[in-house]
Amino acid sequence: MSQQLPAAYGGASAPAARVTIPELNKLKGRSRWSMMTAYDYPTAKLVDASGIECILVGDSLGMVVLGYPTTVPVTMEDMLRHAQAVSRGAKRAVLVGDMPFGSYQTSIPDAIANAARFLKEAGMDSVKIEGGAEVVDTARALTRSGIAVMAHVGLTPQRVAQFGGFKVQAKDAASAKQLIDDALALEDAGCWSIVLESVPARVAALVTERLTIPTIGIGAGAQCDAQVLVFHDAVGLYPDFTPKFAKRYAELGDAIVAAMKAYRQEVADGTFPTSEHSFTMKTEELEKLRAALEQRPRPRAIS
Ligand code: KIV
Repeated sequence: MSQQLPAAYGGASAPAARVTIPELNKLKGRSRWSMMTAYDYPTAKLVDASGIECILVGDSLGMVVLGYPTTVPVTMEDMLRHAQAVSRGAKRAVLVGDMPFGSYQTSIPDAIANAARFLKEAGMDSVKIEGGAEVVDTARALTRSGIAVMAHVGLTPQRVAQFGGFKVQAKDAASAKQLIDDALALEDAGCWSIVLESVPARVAALVTERLTIPTIGIGAGAQCDAQVLVFHDAVGLYPDFTPKFAKRYAELGDAIVAAMKAYRQEVADGTFPTSEHSFTMKTEELEKLRAALEQRPRPRAIS
């Protein structure tokens, strides 16, 4: 079954039924799927209309929407507000809420309570947590509580200070072996999928063939089961920095600046607004108004 979407959303047809996590798991080894970030209602609608299977409300919003230099300052309240907007806009994709720094590290009960808020208050299907062996117990507690968990290893941006910057991970045999062990432990803890960020393509391929859950690559080569990009990188809306792995599919930033310049110019030269964008008044009402105004002396101009 498909539903025709309005022209503003590309007029594309998208299946009406919601995608589910078990459906994405079944695609492993059969066909690749996509995840895209979204942080607000209109973007969620647009991404959903494209047929992209999974939407991540990433804590990358701290950088690309809120203008912080890293994702570290993002709060639960920031994430919930944006996740709520996304779930109002997206009716089809699997929705994943990113747990912000500090919301799952303090204790397992805190992690469960905060993760539950993503499901109860923001309509998310899953949460995502960053880390390897050190978050396995948390991941297990969340999945046992009935919360679907997407894991995230490799470059985990919440630890950017420990890494000394946004650097490629698992480049030598020892760290790559550790990453594979971490991924296997997270699968064993019940995670339904795992993001591999900024790791060599060959390492990502080895992880992908060893796991039964889907790997979702970002800067991790073509052998992953799925790919993810940050929306603002993909459409040219984040001018501060474009990571090597981010392909631009559109230059919306340039289109927006051109639109703003055209608007400013038309206001300046009086070509906007036209009658098309203005409201009318009946001539007799205008005449009554003029007559009423004639009764009153005009205020004196202030010199
Ligand atoms: O926050 C985010 O957008 C992410 C993706 C880069 C996977 O974690």
